[in-house]
Amino acid sequence: MSDAPVRVAVIIGSTREGRAGEAVARWLVSRARRRDDLEVDVVDLADFDLPARYLCAVTPDVAAFTGRVDAADAFVVVTPEYNHSFPASLKQAIDYAYDEWQAKPIGFVAYGHGSGGLYVIEHLRTVCTELHMVVVRGRVNLDLLDGDIEADGPARDAEAMLDQLRWWGLALRDARAARPYVS
Ligand SMILES: Cc1cc2nc3c(=O)[nH]c(=O)nc-3n(C[C@H](O)[C@H](O)[C@H](O)COP(=O)(O)O)c2cc1C
Repeated sequence: MSDAPVRVAVIIGSTREGRAGEAVARWLVSRARRRDDLEVDVVDLADFDLPARYLCAVTPDVAAFTGRVDAADAFVVVTPEYNHSFPASLKQAIDYAYDEWQAKPIGFVAYGHGSGGLYVIEHLRTVCTELHMVVVRGRVNLDLLDGDIEADGPARDAEAMLDQLRWWGLALRDARAARPYVS
């Protein structure tokens, strides 16, 4: 068993020009980096040229992305809601990895105009279960039209989610080291 900091990859799911996702991720990352029990890696999907069509060969950017997923013990996905679901950029990236996601916890910071990202999280839960991940109960929902990211509520929600991610991150890291996961 190791108490070494849990390596959390914070994935920025929107690659839209002029996206709000970068600012939302900055807020989350600044909170997570104040903690000494987490080590944060920001994985910005806009930095990867992931092919829109599946190719037979693994491209350097696909390998770089899946390598970052593999290195993480836990994930926070920062995602907007697009038409009550997640953006294509995020689904495309999720689908490029498989084993690298397994037996690891994931939490969500979701935002939108109106719904506050409620629907996108429910869709992602289904996807993550298929990938043998553990979705933590804690979550952050932000309505960008009617809410203050600096208010106490989102901060409390973020800390609760990060606490749960750490717990599951430690537990599942030990479990993966003890015996291979059965997928
Ligand atoms: C194609 C599209 C669909 C959207 N659908 C929803 C929606 O279903 N619910 C919602 O609350 N906001 C919706 N929005 C608003 C976005 O959540 C909001 O613009 C957000 O800033 C987008 O994230 P981004 O700027 O990081 O890309 C939609 C925006 C776009 C571009």
